[in-house]
Amino acid sequence: MDAHNQQSPDRRAIGVFDSGVGGLTVLHECLVNLPGEDFVYLGDTGNFPYGPKPLSEVRALAFAAASRLVAMGVKLIVVACNSAAAAALPQLQATFSTPIVGVVMPGARAAVQVTRVRRIGILATEATVRSNAYQNALTTLDAGLEVFPVACPRLAPLIQEGDVFSEEVEEAAREYVAPLRQAGVDTVILGCTHYPLITPMLRRLLGPGVTLINSAEETAREVREILDRKMIANDPAREGDYRFFATGNTEEFRQVGARFLQLPIREVVQI
Ligand code: DGL
Repeated sequence: MDAHNQQSPDRRAIGVFDSGVGGLTVLHECLVNLPGEDFVYLGDTGNFPYGPKPLSEVRALAFAAASRLVAMGVKLIVVACNSAAAAALPQLQATFSTPIVGVVMPGARAAVQVTRVRRIGILATEATVRSNAYQNALTTLDAGLEVFPVACPRLAPLIQEGDVFSEEVEEAAREYVAPLRQAGVDTVILGCTHYPLITPMLRRLLGPGVTLINSAEETAREVREILDRKMIANDPAREGDYRFFATGNTEEFRQVGARFLQLPIREVVQI
């Protein structure tokens, strides 16, 4: 037994970043699963959306965000944005010594465990689909899988605009799930931070035989495992704190963000 087994709580915060408010769905799961931890959330709202941008640009934005969090002294970084994780996770991990977790691999792992027919659908932004990150992660885990990625360019902006139960959202969702229904998938990865907000609609459109994988839940589980394995967890009995930084309008972040976080957002600092 060495001295490290006498673990004292690591009080440093966990950094989470996203292209905007969508990653608050990931933060929500982290807050639920890791109540003793402090979090710093950086929303790059000034550059939202990442989805339609070239991968090289998304990668540069992800580097800027991760550098800011590293400079704040966080103990672990969660790349909550699927597009950023898909475009930049390996490069970020190779550059920084801080442990970095993305949303892609946890979602892929859960999907592989769930599928019975080995046919998996992916709903995601254009950048995420173009990067092939989910496709590669899935087929690395099971080379015999058939994977059906669908880019959904209209979905994240529509969900962000507000009325997630509008006919417009339903019409877009119906169009995007059509190829997945046709392909006979039994598992669909919600490969974008915004899609958990329309889970009931997607369940109705895909039918009861299809399991939806929420990458946010899987990622929170992985964060907990890493904290435990690296022995950098905070005291689980305390109630952690969470703070917000945004590169765009802070009032808009506060108002729109609360819907994604499902908790009140108080102060947002502009950076
Ligand atoms: N956060 C982004 C993602 O998960 C969705 C919105 C965007 O296009 O930036 O891919």
